[in-house]
Amino acid sequence: MRIAVVGTGYVGLVTGTCLANVGVTVTCVDIDKEKIQKLNEGIIPIYEPGLEELVRKNTSQNRLSFTTSLKDSLKGADAVFIAVGTPPNEDGSADLQYVLAVAEEIGKSINDYIVIVTKSTVPIGTSKKVSEVVQKSLNSRDVKVDFDVASNPEFLREGNAVQDFLQPERVIVGTDSERAKKVLKRLYRPFIESNHPVLFMDIFSAEMTKYAANAMLATRISFMNEIANLCEEVGANVDNVRKGIGSDSRIGSKFLFPGAGYGGSCFPKDVKALVRTADEFGISLEVLKAVEDVNYKQKQVLFYKIKEHFNGNLEGIKIALWGLAFKANTDDMREASSLVLIDLLTKAGAEVVVYDPVAMDECRKRIGNKVDYAKGQYEALEGADALVVITEWDEFRVPKFTYIEKRLKNKLIFDGRNLYEPAIMNEFGYTYYSIGRKE
Ligand code: UGA
Repeated sequence: MRIAVVGTGYVGLVTGTCLANVGVTVTCVDIDKEKIQKLNEGIIPIYEPGLEELVRKNTSQNRLSFTTSLKDSLKGADAVFIAVGTPPNEDGSADLQYVLAVAEEIGKSINDYIVIVTKSTVPIGTSKKVSEVVQKSLNSRDVKVDFDVASNPEFLREGNAVQDFLQPERVIVGTDSERAKKVLKRLYRPFIESNHPVLFMDIFSAEMTKYAANAMLATRISFMNEIANLCEEVGANVDNVRKGIGSDSRIGSKFLFPGAGYGGSCFPKDVKALVRTADEFGISLEVLKAVEDVNYKQKQVLFYKIKEHFNGNLEGIKIALWGLAFKANTDDMREASSLVLIDLLTKAGAEVVVYDPVAMDECRKRIGNKVDYAKGQYEALEGADALVVITEWDEFRVPKFTYIEKRLKNKLIFDGRNLYEPAIMNEFGYTYYSIGRKE
């Protein structure tokens, strides 16, 4: 089988590389020449555990290649995956200009039957639009070429992308054509044969499944964050409550961790986009609107705890911040809670020194010298009034407390990810604030 993948961002690069790894011949396409050159040298533009090795392995075995020519990549391809960005418009809807531009290019280039698969997270109805644009493009060439569209949303998590792609809990394929179904069944045969469910359905349902999944997960998080905030007030411990409810198999134990709010490129964008789509159909998604509101407030929770501790005055207070990325194992800072916290702290007159194992460059690009950058996690603490932890990196989970004590002015920690045990922290003489647990 031979496929083309358009867009070498997160989803495109992982999809192309992992499909190459199960034996498909894959050409990844991007308009960014420098990026393609680097990828051909085995240098990948994102931080994702295991991906670089897989890119190198598959390029050296000639199953994976990179090009800037969409036209070349389509020669002899059974399917083309559209995996370009769909950034949010100001009103929360997804901007489809890149997806539709690729569709137009495909229409300009194909001469044989091909399945056109949307892999980017796109609003319900986009595959239909893609089909129309391709057909229009073919009409303008005055040629007749058969093609089908399909929707194959991606469910991988950043930081765990390779594993998620290669060992999926399910693959969703939406298509209304038997011919396309045959092609995609062949493509996903290695997964079907290794007992990973590949669910075929109609296109609208596949598109909807992607949004419904992310919206459900975001809902769990906002729900738990509200429960955590209430736990603090009534004197309960959210860890106990989480375990207590998670052992009911109807609820399940995953994705119930309260924290400093969800971030990343997916949940915030997808929840907004789904609310927006519903609005277009005259339906108001009340639960999801509340999920967004709760998350907006939750990103500020640590700031208000810090402010209250310092009696409302943060002028001249020095805060050491561990973590910048929106979660561990990524350098992605899109919609990261750290950005909200830094903004509030600096506006209130505090000085912020940051450390993150991989997101320092990303932070420099985003906010420059609004904060100071420490060389290491302990260097960040030098002379600081408090430590705030906002990303659950492994190196923050079991720190050397003696090092912390030597450098911090006060034994004071604000923990936005509940990494430490309140009882132990208190025993060690720390003033310790976390989320949803008795201090
Ligand atoms: C999410 C979904 O988990 C993937 O299935 C989906 O494919 C992806 O979006 C996407 O649409 O592309 P991702 O954004 O990489 O993946 O990150 P998650 O691991 O889901 O975490 C999202 C946010 O929720 C993070 O800020 C994390 O800290 C937060 N979170 C997660 C919690 O606050 N509590 C939890 O229990 C779990």
